[in-house]
Amino acid sequence: MRVAILTGGGDCPGLNAVIRAIVRKGIMNYGYECYGIKNGWLGLIEGKITPLDLNSISGILPRGGTILGTSRTNPFKKEGDVEKIFANIAKFEIDALIAIGGEDTLGVALKLAQKGLKVVGVPKTIDNDLSCTDYTFGFDTAVSIVCEALDRLHTTAEAHHRVMVVEVMGRHAGWIAVLGGLAGGADLILIPEVPFDLEEVCREVQKRRERGKDFSIIVVAEGAQPKENGMIAQSEEKDAFGHIRLGGIGHYLGREVEKRTGLETRVTVLGHTQRGGSPTAYDRILATRFGIAAIDLVREGQFGLMVSLQGNKVVPVPLEKAVAQLKTVDRELYEIARVFFG
Ligand code: F6P
Repeated sequence: MRVAILTGGGDCPGLNAVIRAIVRKGIMNYGYECYGIKNGWLGLIEGKITPLDLNSISGILPRGGTILGTSRTNPFKKEGDVEKIFANIAKFEIDALIAIGGEDTLGVALKLAQKGLKVVGVPKTIDNDLSCTDYTFGFDTAVSIVCEALDRLHTTAEAHHRVMVVEVMGRHAGWIAVLGGLAGGADLILIPEVPFDLEEVCREVQKRRERGKDFSIIVVAEGAQPKENGMIAQSEEKDAFGHIRLGGIGHYLGREVEKRTGLETRVTVLGHTQRGGSPTAYDRILATRFGIAAIDLVREGQFGLMVSLQGNKVVPVPLEKAVAQLKTVDRELYEIARVFFG
């Protein structure tokens, strides 16, 4: 039995832990041959496939990134690419594929499954916005990075009596902003799910000053939208899955808050630091459990599924259900964060 693995989309701490778990159990328990596909779907189009043995996965558990490389290639974008994928699956005699990715990568996995590919999906994204799973690995690491950054920004904000605007990732869902902001004691959290009013934001900041605290921390998700403007993008150019490059909301907000309140304001964009480096212990364990569950599904001959975390159990769900819609922020959680606003 030959099992191939690919990682697609934005990278995420914990990808290597999944690869390690699949290869380890695949070889040691099931006697499978494991292969790694380079750079997501691109490697399957180009036939860039290499064997993975026990040595190639040794020492990768704490490493961020992905030993396989990744890309945002969409094989349904260019005519002939899907045929190349099936030709390479046949050429390399791959019996099963495990695709580790977010909504885009798993959306492609679903379409290929509908065309007959034997594929199992593993959910990854620091954004935690995939449906049918309580958490995706990488998210806990991102939240910890935001929390640590907020702790650091607190002391300098307090010393200078400034407003600090902190832009975090989260395109359509504000999970990182809400949980990172809650853990780090943010005074205000702005998320894509709830368009915000600039005047209200300024009023909150001023109210806080009147009550005696002379600094503020505002966390804003990159996809948060001012009511008067909509999403703020760095460029309108779209990637292969139709996403524009976000970024800029932090600086926009910082400029406006300073102008409207007269309070000295600084902006920090955490950007890709949220995605880099070692996974937390939680993410290493979740990623390992997902990898084991994925290779077990292959063993059972169950395909077209995604492994997921529900409560404390790892269970399979249909890929179709998982990519049907994004999982946005739980309003109850946002209400908890709101208790500490202003
Ligand atoms: O992985 C998802 C994500 O973190 C989004 O929150 C963000 O918009 C995007 O990746 C940016 O990724 P890149 O710079 O790799 O295109």
